[in-house]
Amino acid sequence: MTKMLKTIFSGWMVISASSLYADDHAHEYREKVMSSVGSHMKSLSLILKQKDNKTLHSHISRHTANMAELAAITQDIFAFDEKAAKKSKKMAKIWDPKTKAISSDFQKELDAFQDAAKKALELTKGNDINKLKPALGALGKSCKSCHDSYKEKD
Ligand code: HEC
Repeated sequence: MTKMLKTIFSGWMVISASSLYADDHAHEYREKVMSSVGSHMKSLSLILKQKDNKTLHSHISRHTANMAELAAITQDIFAFDEKAAKKSKKMAKIWDPKTKAISSDFQKELDAFQDAAKKALELTKGNDINKLKPALGALGKSCKSCHDSYKEKD
């Protein structure tokens, strides 16, 4: 094969492989978004432990602003995923078995997360460390409620 043909061929292999596994990319994207949600939550809880570190306190509303953006993104990352539904009984409940649309109960969890993230951002706009605990409480409630019903234990 000429060098050029080889380049075209390997390019095609990459493209065809990526379209073949489109579902896996959606899955990986969902995991990355959720893992960012987890990282901001963990960062906020670590800031809470540093009562006197004013520099870190100035990051609070930056994390909660990111969390509000991620909660909005989360609305879009749970399109029907056949593999996930087959693998996990809990995740299967996310979708209506007939229409494959998100069930109304799962939509409520998504909306509760978005509301909690907006509330957390409102509470923490002034980077007041004393407002961080109630903000984390509201967020944590929404994670737990959704995970209890729809996420398999690690
Ligand atoms: C509307 C439901 C819902 C809400 C709200 C929610 N999660 Fe999740 N989360 C899930 C589901 C379902 C999975 C499993 C996704 C999968 O396996 O594809 C998951 C996965 C995760 C993961 C694992 C990511 C990975 O790398 O596999 C982390 C971390 C996480 N969530 C953290 C959080 C935190 C922290 C919150 C709250 C601030 C939260 N989630 C809110 C449904 C939710």
